[in-house]
Amino acid sequence: MKVLVVGGGGREHALAWKIAQSPRVTKLYCAPGNPGIAHVAECLPIPSDDIDALRDAVKAHRVDLTVVGPEAPLAAGIVDAFRRDKLLIFGPHQAAARIEASKSFSKDLMARLRIPTAEAQTFTALAPALEYLDRRDAPIVVKADGLAQGKGVVVAATRAEAREAVRAMLEGKAFGEAGTRVVIEEFLDGEELTVMAFTDGKTVLPLAAAQDHKRVGDGDTGPNTGGMGAYAPAPIGTRELLERVRRTILEPTVEGLSRLGSPFHGVLYAGLMMVRGEPKVLEFNARMGDPETQVVLPLLKTDVVEVLMAVAEHRLDRLTVEWHERAAVCVVLAASGYPGTPVKGTPIAGLAELERRDELVAFHAGTAAGPGGVVTAGGRVLGVTGIGETLESARDRAYAGVRRISFDGMHYRSDIAARALNRR
Ligand code: AMP
Ligand code: GLY
Repeated sequence: MKVLVVGGGGREHALAWKIAQSPRVTKLYCAPGNPGIAHVAECLPIPSDDIDALRDAVKAHRVDLTVVGPEAPLAAGIVDAFRRDKLLIFGPHQAAARIEASKSFSKDLMARLRIPTAEAQTFTALAPALEYLDRRDAPIVVKADGLAQGKGVVVAATRAEAREAVRAMLEGKAFGEAGTRVVIEEFLDGEELTVMAFTDGKTVLPLAAAQDHKRVGDGDTGPNTGGMGAYAPAPIGTRELLERVRRTILEPTVEGLSRLGSPFHGVLYAGLMMVRGEPKVLEFNARMGDPETQVVLPLLKTDVVEVLMAVAEHRLDRLTVEWHERAAVCVVLAASGYPGTPVKGTPIAGLAELERRDELVAFHAGTAAGPGGVVTAGGRVLGVTGIGETLESARDRAYAGVRRISFDGMHYRSDIAARALNRR
């Protein structure tokens, strides 16, 4: 069968890499892809949010299944458009994708379903928002309602900082449309954990738990980023905990969306904070995590295409999903300037050395083809992923890979997975 992956970052490289290993796949496309993805798929020069052009390409190339990586096309209704034309696609409809695209929708849903989460209120006007802040203690969290590419969240250490953030979002329109509504939320202190699950709107199958590293610097210091690395399985994500997350968070949410008439099909991502042993939801996403996908997909033993098809055809109840007893660690190599404005066009050395290895993969996140080879084209450039029998061997492989790659201004965290390894 022919498959199209929509997107062009590290998550989509991991998806394409895994899908290319399926014996069922005869042809793999990716739109727009990147130079790393081009090793396993034919890249089509179509932006991931050009729904009409993607649909035309799927028809022209007779693609059997489309798999959507990023949130923007989901929020824009790519699944609705494809399904109207009877094209098979993996991902949630626009209405269900609101769980990520609108934080106020997601908070209302959680309140209604009594899903454990931070206490919060939504505001569209400045005066009541500031008044509310006066009655709350710092630290406190201010979030833009809409999609802001992971940058719409301010964890304010003081009330003054929170006021500033609310003002910037509601008055300054710092986030455009996304910030015309803000959610002010209780600060939760604890350890973060990502639990993603395949769901067809009825059956919910959690994936291995992963941990992301959001801050730019070692020891969780410096500003927030889109994610500087990840590892899986996270030791705190025990079988018991995953079962509890499924029962108290994922299943009620999936059922609740179905009852609302917006059933969710795809991967539901729960960003959790473990507060005194209890999982509470920080956010839901309507797609796989980045960089979590780079460490979770390598652990999947069942043919990924079987799983994607079962979700897209709403028959997940008849599938058993198996996992390798292994671990994976992904270290993100970032460009100079990141998480501010990254320097683009810098040549990358050492990539060829990492090709054709089973247990070490450099997933391309922000790269482009330059005149003399691959160059940087974004903040997060590569996700160097090591796979091993243990977390420790996976970590060692990943860092051995990191040492082979270099580019001007390259920076990365040297403590990915350290928290899990030090726990022992
Ligand atoms: P979000 O996009 O909602 O996941 O927020 C991005 C990051 O901000 C999270 O991964 C957390 O590190 C942090 N964060 C979000 N909400 C809270 C909260 N209520 N309490 C503490 N930290 C938070
Ligand atoms: N790693 C966080 C996210 O994908 O939203």
